[in-house]
Amino acid sequence: MESFTIRPIEKEDRNWIAQFLDRHWGSTRIVTRGQVYLAHLLPGFIAEQDGEKVGLVTYRIDGEACELMTINSTIEGQGVGTALLEAVKTVAMEEGCKRLWLITTNDNLKALRFYQKRDLHIVAVYPGALDASRKVKPEIPLFGYDGIPLRDEIELEMTL
Ligand SMILES: CC(C)(COP(=O)(O)OP(=O)(O)OC[C@H]1O[C@@H](n2cnc3c(N)ncnc32)[C@H](O)[C@@H]1OP(=O)(O)O)[C@@H](O)C(=O)NCCC(=O)NCCS
Repeated sequence: MESFTIRPIEKEDRNWIAQFLDRHWGSTRIVTRGQVYLAHLLPGFIAEQDGEKVGLVTYRIDGEACELMTINSTIEGQGVGTALLEAVKTVAMEEGCKRLWLITTNDNLKALRFYQKRDLHIVAVYPGALDASRKVKPEIPLFGYDGIPLRDEIELEMTL
């Protein structure tokens, strides 16, 4: 039995979400493929354990495509990330989406492992895309996880 629960975001969560995104991504502004999104205003799901928020996923639906915008777990290795991804997959299918996709970055080896083991396939690599992202979000650091230069966007998708 899982020790956490997953529920949809509610209006009252927006302040917490904004702070959480600031802490984990340096901003509530998320850039993918050159577009800026205010992730604290998007729909999503929160994971809770013993009354504490331990994970957040946000997404946006555009026609038959659902883009997973952010996903974070603060208690890694207990199934929270998988459950949040499943929640988005379920809602995307209910909304008639045919494709779930996302952008990650070249430094995020943990995410690349996580997604590829969960049916998401690499479908495109955009070399140097972070240069364009930094033009709209200068706070994006030059180095990412493990000191890897943060340079490229990697697109993954699954068919629903
Ligand atoms: C990527 C991320 C969301 C995964 O979240 P998570 O909560 O650790 O995910 P899970 O616990 O579901 O899965 C992680 C591993 O724990 C394992 N695991 C899950 N439940 C487990 C349990 N009860 N006991 C032991 N291991 C377990 C999983 O098998 C998985 O390993 P695998 O990938 O080899 O299959 C998390 O690492 C994270 O927040 N990263 C930082 C933010 C980030 O980079 N997000 C992606 C941006 S594109």
